[in-house]
Amino acid sequence: MEDTLDKFVAELQAEINRGTLETYGEVVFKRWQEPLYMGRMALADGYARVTGSCGDTMEIFLRFEEGQVKEASFWTDGCASSMVCGSYAAELARGKTLEELSNITGKTILDILGGLPDHDRHCAFLAAETLQKALEHYLNVTGKNERT
Ligand code: FES
Repeated sequence: MEDTLDKFVAELQAEINRGTLETYGEVVFKRWQEPLYMGRMALADGYARVTGSCGDTMEIFLRFEEGQVKEASFWTDGCASSMVCGSYAAELARGKTLEELSNITGKTILDILGGLPDHDRHCAFLAAETLQKALEHYLNVTGKNERT
């Protein structure tokens, strides 16, 4: 009985994986299986939490060192796409200067992913908006909000 259940679960998972790979492509699929940089960061220098119109929430955490992002991470309670987009937002942020960080948009994330289905595109924009708000928070608390 247990073997039958295990087999059923394995087949179901394989089916889900096949469907996800087919719909979202390899880049998204791989990151969905291994969402790098996921986790809340204690004592972040820049932090933002944004709830999108879909009701999902994204959080971005940034730690800076010598004018560059030393560490970045994300957390979301949202869909698989939001997890992938948050992960790439954090990855893109790492090592960036303030100016470079300010140039990261939802389109930047979508380009890396090779696009997303229409109903999931907003997940990339939610991740980018949260990243920009975390940058804004950092600039405000450090008094660096007058960018040069
Ligand atoms: Fe809400 Fe993806 S559906 S962030």
